[in-house]
Amino acid sequence: MLKGKSILLGVTGSISAYKICNLASMLKKLHADIHVIMTKNATNFVNPITFETLTGNKCIVDTFDRDFEFNVEHIALAKKCDIYMVAPASYNVIGKIANGIADDMLTSTMAAFTKTRIIAPAMNTNMYENPILQDNLEKLRKYGFEIIDASCGYLACGDTGRGKLPSEEELLNRILYHVLYPHDLENKNILITAGPTQEAIDPVRYITNHSSGKMGYAIANKAYLRGANVTLISGSVNVKAIKGINVIDVKSAKDMYEAVKDNYKNNDIVIMSAAVADYTPKDYSDNKIKKNDNDMSIELERTCDILKFLGENKKENQIVVGFSMETENLVDNSKKKLIKKNCDMICANSLNSNKTGFKADTNQITLIKKNDIKELPFDTKENLAMMILDEIKNL
Ligand code: CTP
Repeated sequence: MLKGKSILLGVTGSISAYKICNLASMLKKLHADIHVIMTKNATNFVNPITFETLTGNKCIVDTFDRDFEFNVEHIALAKKCDIYMVAPASYNVIGKIANGIADDMLTSTMAAFTKTRIIAPAMNTNMYENPILQDNLEKLRKYGFEIIDASCGYLACGDTGRGKLPSEEELLNRILYHVLYPHDLENKNILITAGPTQEAIDPVRYITNHSSGKMGYAIANKAYLRGANVTLISGSVNVKAIKGINVIDVKSAKDMYEAVKDNYKNNDIVIMSAAVADYTPKDYSDNKIKKNDNDMSIELERTCDILKFLGENKKENQIVVGFSMETENLVDNSKKKLIKKNCDMICANSLNSNKTGFKADTNQITLIKKNDIKELPFDTKENLAMMILDEIKNL
């Protein structure tokens, strides 16, 4: 995934430096070439040998390291690497970078670095909220640095508040955002729905389906990494969206319809990958329905067809894409949906194997357009998400 990409990590003195070992390992698994520069203080928390073992490259600590080509190395790394992330970034190092001080390898390399620069602060809450630090961060933003806001939580110093280094996944996603794909969907607003809906019967029970949301989330995450502004309207799922995606949580088909209605107009592309219930209980019982000795039945009424609504109310140049889940006559039935719901494309998935459909990580998809049918290869949902976005881009 990251073959041919060189990532530079700057590590300063904070207990959260341990997280960067995991980040380096995650990057290595994606085949990145990783270089690490540590401040002297950082070596009190993590040994440089840890990074050397994880990355296979020398970890640089001091500009005046006699065992190394010290005088040119910071320029060489600044030229070689595609991105430079300082995480955790201490109060002190942020102050230095913001004020043009370059007195060690980490800060000197930053002074010479001209590509994407990311700073992820981590420190005690009072230090983080200190207006001097906030001014320095503002100054760095002004100079084009990306700042990753510290998270809230229990800090190593015993305080609870803002100042935590975000998770390794979040740091990795920021790196991936910048280096993984060209931003060919930049300035595109994309609305995606994903996951199942839940139709409540009473406070205890509901009707739902097996949708895991994996396909919709894969599309949302890939679209985001390709530079799009993504809004994701999601039913209850156990998959995660990348931070930066605007997630709107919903439960029922009606909630999803309302959320789509509120948001679709501002979007260039709308993708309905959610498994929306076609029927909902006609009456909701405020109290738990008690059993008796008889059988029972629940009267159901139709929900609104959200995709059909989108097809009928399409904005100029808006692209509407639907999904179709079938167990028989996949192409014919999906074609009918394409026409009936006035969409530009239907992604038809067959449910005929346990390697495709709801819970699987892989899928088999056929793309159906008015005058064209294209069978995509059997692949992971991640890869299929890329292919679906490529096809939408060409619509
Ligand atoms: N869909 C929708 N609103 C509904 C039901 C479905 O927007 N109330 C959308 C789905 O998100 C999907 C497409 O319509 O993009 C097709 O869904 P699918 O369940 O395959 O088909 P249905 O239209 O529900 O028809 P059927 O159940 O007869 O297959």
